Amino acid sequence: MSHADHHFVIAIDGPAASGKSSTAKLVAERLGIHHADSGALYRAATLARTGRSGVPESWNAGSIVHEARRIALVRSGTSFEITLSGKPVSEELHEPAITALVSMVAKMEPVRAWVNDRMWECAADGPIVVDGRDMGTAVFPKAQLKIFLIAKAEERARRRLLQRLGRMPMEAEIDAETHALRQRDVKDAEQTRQADDAVVIDTTHLTQDEQVDRIVDLARQVKSDV
Ligand code: DC
Repeated sequence: MSHADHHFVIAIDGPAASGKSSTAKLVAERLGIHHADSGALYRAATLARTGRSGVPESWNAGSIVHEARRIALVRSGTSFEITLSGKPVSEELHEPAITALVSMVAKMEPVRAWVNDRMWECAADGPIVVDGRDMGTAVFPKAQLKIFLIAKAEERARRRLLQRLGRMPMEAEIDAETHALRQRDVKDAEQTRQADDAVVIDTTHLTQDEQVDRIVDLARQVKSDV
């Protein structure tokens, strides 16, 4: 299986907290096609290795890929639920301890190859929305629609805090989160690539519904029967 043999693919890339995964999930639901989140797979590989011996500084790619064999993607509606040794782990994937380690894990080529294989397997089943950092470049360079989502760091921070705290964040909280997001942008910069043929959508002043509508409209322009 390679990226050359896949069905209709919408690739959504962008920096941390740009709303890729939630937007990709809603686009897939609207179109009635599958959605797979590559960032969640990097997080799952990190989680799988976390439960085993050794401090993170000693982790090598081989041991991470070995532990990642315990991960499965189980179809659930239009999404895939991630399980580790048969247990659903979606909640654990966003714990701060995983977020702190995942950039390091995602830089390892064998781990990237493992994630890419899983994404190609998901795409072999039928039309799909995929999201991450390099979906439209390295993984699905022939995707029929490529989107690159951007938003100002302060707005990404505000949205992330609103989701996490369940209330309007204060100025000082937004400043601290903006700083943390900028640091993550630097850590992930090498992996985050915008395809030359991607449609760039700046979501700073858009609602989630507006982003989803735009992508669904573009998808229907590219392929009228989705
Ligand atoms: O989008 P996210 O925060 O869940 O991504 C988790 C980590 O994985 C982050 O460090 C970026 C990295 N990643 C990547 O390198 N390539 C992808 N296609 C998706 C995520």
